[in-house]
Amino acid sequence: MLAKRPPMGFNTWNTFGTHISDKVIRETADAMVELGLRDAGYEYLVIDDCWSKRDRDPVTHKIVPDPEKFPDGMKAVSDYVHSKGLKFGMYSCAGVRTCADYPGSFDHEYLDAETFAEYGCDFLKYDFCFRPKTIDGPLLYRRMGMALKACGREILFSACNWGSDNVHQWIRSTGAQMYRSTGDINDSFKSFKEIAMSQIGNLGYSAPGCFNDIDMLICGMYGKGNVANGGCTDAEYRTHFALWCMFSAPLMIGCDLRTVSDETLKLLKDKELIRIDQDEEARPAFVVNAHPWEDGKVVLCKHLADNEYAFGFFNLSERDGKIPMYPGEAGLTANSGYALELTDIESGECIGRFTDYTSIQVPAHACRIFRARTVRL
Ligand code: GLA
Repeated sequence: MLAKRPPMGFNTWNTFGTHISDKVIRETADAMVELGLRDAGYEYLVIDDCWSKRDRDPVTHKIVPDPEKFPDGMKAVSDYVHSKGLKFGMYSCAGVRTCADYPGSFDHEYLDAETFAEYGCDFLKYDFCFRPKTIDGPLLYRRMGMALKACGREILFSACNWGSDNVHQWIRSTGAQMYRSTGDINDSFKSFKEIAMSQIGNLGYSAPGCFNDIDMLICGMYGKGNVANGGCTDAEYRTHFALWCMFSAPLMIGCDLRTVSDETLKLLKDKELIRIDQDEEARPAFVVNAHPWEDGKVVLCKHLADNEYAFGFFNLSERDGKIPMYPGEAGLTANSGYALELTDIESGECIGRFTDYTSIQVPAHACRIFRARTVRL
């Protein structure tokens, strides 16, 4: 089974946009291995939009790689990626053109799936621009879902219709292993906050086999690249990454790994956060506090395997402050005879056993994440 856990990897779009090439992919593959990211779980290296010529081959009707960007073709790139112990991903679109106006797969689904299989592709991101209005979204994704099953190679199907047509209700039925549920992220606190808030009611639509994808990570972009929009601080990037992990979201790196900062690398390799994201049970987090969005202070709880929980205290407001939490609102009754023991995953410090109201000080735009257990009093 593909995608038993949220897929992890790298995607070119956030940093490179149209400026992709054989060289960029090989250097990124090298970086993923040398920096220990492959060993931390990031296995897919995905080429997003803008990889092909503007038109299909007039005779074979195949999509043709841009010879200036990829002079040796895609199989050579894919072979290199595989030689590094990574998996190779590509991009197409359910419409007649991709979002950046290259050929889309509409009415060529089976031919394109075979072409991707010939390249040695392991992952296909499938976008939603320029689709004929005569055919509905679910059928477009069913077509490529079936084409990928027929092509003779195991290819992870990453749907990307930005949450249209109530996608969370039907996407699993198309065979997709992950699905974008929101519009595009950009490199700002406002963008990732809005994305997270928009999906808080849809966390249950994510499970082994098919995960809610809230878009590629912006961690470490610092205001540079294709989706630049002012950038974030390291504390904000940690809040972003921790939210994605509490949501069991796919973790697709979007910064330039060839120049990644030490702080970003530490965050992307944070074992405790990745463990929360990749927990084998992939249970949806729930909101613990009653009116979380009013002041931007949110407590999330996620049941983990082995009788553990993750508690995330997120201060998405503009002011430092205390975030209240009542264990009762997570399920621990006052007369239970148990307490909730919280251990800060960053410092490793156990901050105490709680049976009643507690509050955690969290700076604006930051978060504190705890592992928790119930212990008998
Ligand atoms: C859409 C997708 C993005 C990216 C671009 C490429 O906007 O949502 O993630 O793939 O297309 O053009």
